[in-house]
Amino acid sequence: MKDFTCITVTTPVAGVAAIQLSRPKVLNALNLQTMVEIVEALESIEQNNDIRCVVLYGNEKAFAAGADIGEMGDAGTIEMLKRDQFSRWEKIRTFKKPIIAAVSGFALGGGCELAMHCDMIIASETAQFGQPEINIGVMPGAGGTQRLTRAVGKALAMEICLTGRMINAQQALRAGLVNKVVPVQSFIQEAIALAQEIASKPPIAVQLIKESVLKSFSSTLEGGLEFERKNFYMLFATEDQKEGMHAFIEKRTPTWKGQ
Ligand code: CAA
Repeated sequence: MKDFTCITVTTPVAGVAAIQLSRPKVLNALNLQTMVEIVEALESIEQNNDIRCVVLYGNEKAFAAGADIGEMGDAGTIEMLKRDQFSRWEKIRTFKKPIIAAVSGFALGGGCELAMHCDMIIASETAQFGQPEINIGVMPGAGGTQRLTRAVGKALAMEICLTGRMINAQQALRAGLVNKVVPVQSFIQEAIALAQEIASKPPIAVQLIKESVLKSFSSTLEGGLEFERKNFYMLFATEDQKEGMHAFIEKRTPTWKGQ
């Protein structure tokens, strides 16, 4: 993996890549370079068959406090259109392996949206989520009005986006935005443990499950059920399906090949 300036990529345990946002002086504000590097790292991880799950995290104080306001303050519409920086995030949406966000401290604006691009969120008890763009004269631009609404429902999404108020980790848990709230000392480890568990599953089934769950956001129920059914049948072409079912019958632990 090449050297990056705004992120650090490691392999904390076999099968898992960890991407750390590393601009702590600005609470991991997401400048253009950070987003380019996240996408580059994901592209490289996608090609690496040994990596099966990804954890994305910041530090105790901040996951990310939003898009870098310093980079946007004087930009005009044409400049923003030309940069089209948020379309780059499509790579995160279409990334084939599961991504878990480990969030402590601030996940605001683009930071909240980045966490919501991920498939699951482990929050530390100090995590705070919000879409404060309204307070700086704009609005969410990378999925905040859409993904937040799907995650927590219309009423709370309206409140968060229209007031700029933050919700804490327990509120986020109750609202269904996060999977689990854990002590600050262990939020990264918890996310890595979850990633490690997923990394131990048959990879093609993992990929198709992820695609199928995400399909539910963009399809009718009928279309989504058909997509799911065909993916289920498709898995019967894999060696891992034979291995999994034979191992069950033979009362032994399966060995996955990812084929
Ligand atoms: N962009 C650039 N710099 C940021 C930043 C951001 N989003 N958020 C924080 N920083 C910088 C601050 O300017 C400050 O830098 P200096 O030390 O050089 O002054 C440093 O990070 C620490 O921040 P604070 O001193 O403000 O820390 P705090 O603990 O007092 O407050 C905070 C923390 C409430 C998160 C506050 O920093 C804040 O409100 N940040 C902005 C949050 C925001 O509006 N995010 C939305 C951005 S727009 C967006 O994301 C668009 C989109 O939809 C994609």
